[in-house]
Amino acid sequence: MPRYLFGTLFLLLSLAAQPPAFNYDEAKVPKYTLPDPLVMADGTPVKDAAMWTKKRRPEILELFAEQVYGHTPKTRLKLRTEVLEIDKTAHGGLATRKQVRVWFGPAADAPFMDLLIYMPNGMKGKVPAFLGLNFGGNHTIQPDTEIRVTKSWVSSKANNFQASEKDRGAGSSRWPVDLVLKRGYAVVTAYYGDIDPDFDDGFKNGVQPLFYKPGQTKPEANEWGSLGAWAWGLSRAMDVLEKEKEIDSTRVVLHGHSRLGKATLWAGAQDQRFAIVISNDSGEGGAALARRKFGETTARINTSFPHWFDGNFKQYNDKEDTIPVDQHMLLALIAPRPLYVDSAVEDAWADPRGEFLGALGADPVYRLLGMPGLLVTEHPAVEKPSLDGTIGYHIRNGKHDVTDYDWTQWMNFADRHLKK
Ligand code: GCU
Repeated sequence: MPRYLFGTLFLLLSLAAQPPAFNYDEAKVPKYTLPDPLVMADGTPVKDAAMWTKKRRPEILELFAEQVYGHTPKTRLKLRTEVLEIDKTAHGGLATRKQVRVWFGPAADAPFMDLLIYMPNGMKGKVPAFLGLNFGGNHTIQPDTEIRVTKSWVSSKANNFQASEKDRGAGSSRWPVDLVLKRGYAVVTAYYGDIDPDFDDGFKNGVQPLFYKPGQTKPEANEWGSLGAWAWGLSRAMDVLEKEKEIDSTRVVLHGHSRLGKATLWAGAQDQRFAIVISNDSGEGGAALARRKFGETTARINTSFPHWFDGNFKQYNDKEDTIPVDQHMLLALIAPRPLYVDSAVEDAWADPRGEFLGALGADPVYRLLGMPGLLVTEHPAVEKPSLDGTIGYHIRNGKHDVTDYDWTQWMNFADRHLKK
């Protein structure tokens, strides 16, 4: 074949292999029908709250575990904790900082995560807390020089995937600790990479191997991936908080951004000890409806991040309409507990409208359970939050991020439910 023809053929073949361009045009979103959270898989309508709780809720939870995030192991590891340090004069005396190492199992070389806890000083009684994982290591959330630097894998290729002193406080704009402390909430965080490093290594590192059956080398098609592991880590953080004298574990607000927002929703769905669940810009696989073709798609997320979901979820690439659930049903699993979803105008990849419609789709379940649900039916105007229902929502200006504006709405929402 002449060289130039070969070149043309190659170009045509590679163009054909390109994924379809992502849709950002509202007018081009095809029609879709959502599965009804209040109809059982066999077609029986859910007639009352008891039927939701006893039949439909477990059915939906099982579908998400089997088809989307993978089952979380039922085996309970014995956690070991070690208080690394306590300082009652942190943040200019505003807070007590405590760092607790949480070992996942009795073995001396068991993996561990470090919990960083800031508690407001001078409060009467136990305090409510905001709990969320961070992206860069605990030392990135504040410039505080006493925070331990993680030894786990971090995403910085430039620094050979090692955390660095230079990153101290690098993520502090997303963690307005003083603002939160002043409102009477504790701030609790752990580094997600302590639980499962965020790259596809065939599940050799992270917590999955702790649960392998003899001879098993990777999770089965219906067993957890990284999102499942991060969600599990949040529940282990809750185990520790239940034993913290100063913290009211019945008032723990779980929050997460983006991929950690997805993990947060899955954690809140499985573990009903979390009092409030907040999804920030969680997008595809989070609050955004999968069937709505806008921004990121199932095929794309499964290709870019093959380790996030379970093996079964891969069969839904470009076949969103056949998933037996959609993300409004994940949000409904939070009910009757307060749920908050937020979006950002410039975060089209995460499909802000799809996130809102996810929240709206969960509303009928809240109503069935006698809760006010979401008080709006149209996508609210920018920075006009809907805070008064059991489902709260806002869309703010700006990009994919966590800002003081977001935190302020979360605290306003949490105050309404936790400080009555
Ligand atoms: C990617 C991914 C998103 C995810 C985001 C993040 O953009 O496609 O699904 O939410 O990373 O976690 O920042």
